[in-house]
Amino acid sequence: MLLKVRSEFPGLEKKLILSSCSQSAISLDVMNAMDEYKNSLLEEGMSWETWMEKVNSAKEKFARIINCDASEVAILSSVSDSISSILQSLDLNKQDVCVTEMDFPCVGHAILAQKQKQDINVIFIPAENNMIPLETYETHITENTALTCISHVSYYNGFKQNIKDIAKIAHKKGSLLLVDAYQSAGAVNIDVKDMDIDILVTGMQKYLLGVPGITFLYVKKELAERLYPTTIGWFGQKNPFAFDLKNLDYAHSAQRFNTGTPPVINAYIADAALSFIDKVGMETIQNYLSKLSSFTIEKAAELGFEIASPLDNSKKGTSTAIYVDDASNIEKKLKQAGFVVSSRKDVIRIAPHIYNNEEDIVNCLLKLKELSH
Ligand SMILES: Cc1ncc(COP(=O)(O)O)c(C=O)c1O
Repeated sequence: MLLKVRSEFPGLEKKLILSSCSQSAISLDVMNAMDEYKNSLLEEGMSWETWMEKVNSAKEKFARIINCDASEVAILSSVSDSISSILQSLDLNKQDVCVTEMDFPCVGHAILAQKQKQDINVIFIPAENNMIPLETYETHITENTALTCISHVSYYNGFKQNIKDIAKIAHKKGSLLLVDAYQSAGAVNIDVKDMDIDILVTGMQKYLLGVPGITFLYVKKELAERLYPTTIGWFGQKNPFAFDLKNLDYAHSAQRFNTGTPPVINAYIADAALSFIDKVGMETIQNYLSKLSSFTIEKAAELGFEIASPLDNSKKGTSTAIYVDDASNIEKKLKQAGFVVSSRKDVIRIAPHIYNNEEDIVNCLLKLKELSH
C-alpha cells in the first residue's frame, strides 16, 4: 500500500519530505483541488453555492474525524485567530487561566492580550525535561481556574499528553479545557466526546495534509450556546444572506464563531485532503506513524544523537526532535542536500507521514549526522 500512497505525492520525487510538523507533502488530489477552484473561477466566474458546498463538506469530514457534529465546528483562518476569538468570548475576569510551557507561543500571546482588558491571573504550568507530569496539573489548576490550555502534542518535541486524564482534573476543579491539536490531528486519533474536550483548535497545514489558511474551531454545543463572540462576521449569523445590518443574530452552536467569507480555495484543498485521510483511515495512519516514531527514536539513539523527545513512544506523537547546534542553518543545509525537515529553537524535527518509510528516516539521520559534525 505504501508504494501506491507514495506515488500520490509527487513532491517526493524532488525532495525527501519529513516536515509534517510544519508543512506536509501535498497529494495529487490536493493539486487537482487547486485546479478545480481555478477552473470554477474561469468557467463560472462566481459560484457561491458550490463554494459553500465545499466549505460545508470539508467541515463535515473534519467533524467525523474528531467525532462531533458539524454544527460544533467553525472555520477560521489560523489557530491564532481561533484561540483569540475564543478568549474574547469568555468572561475570565478575576480568575486564573492556565497555559503550559509546552504550548505554541500564540496561545500565550492570546491570553496575555486578553489580560490587557480583563483582570486575569495567568499561570504557566511548568515542564520538566520537556514533559508535563499529570501531578503538575493537579497542583496548578485550582477552583479559581476558568480555562486550562494544553497542546495534545507539543510542537517542539512531539510530547503527547493524555487528554482524558487532564480533562478529568480540569473539570473536577470547574475549569474549561482548550486543546491545541495542530500537531496531532491527522496523525493521532482524536475523539472530542470520549476525551471530554470543551474547545479544540487545529488546522490543515500539518498532518491533515493540506495547506495553511484554513483552521477548525470545535466548541462543545452546550458551551457555544452560552458564548457571544465579539470577533464576528456575517457568516456567524443565523442567516448570513438575510443582509440584516441592524440586528445581531448569533448562529447556533459553534457557527457563531465563523467570521467573514470563508477561505474558499483552502476549503477545496481541505475537502480533498480530508477525503484522502478518510480513504486511508485514521487507525491505519496512527498505527503506521507510531511505528515510524519508535523506529526514529531507536535509530537516532543508535547514531548517538541527543533526543529532546520523550523516549517512551506512548508519550510521543509523530515528530522526533534532535538537539543540534545552529538548528536553523542545519535545516537549510539539509534542504540543499534534498531533505525537508523543520527546525525550532535548538532542535531539528523529523516528522514523517504515511508516504514515508524507514529508509527515509535512516537516510535523513545519516545526512544530519554528517552535517552536524
Ligand atoms: C501546536 C501549534 N499551535 C499553533 C500553531 C500556529 O498556528 P497558526 O499559524 O495557524 O496560528 C502551530 C504552528 O506551527 C502549532 O504547531
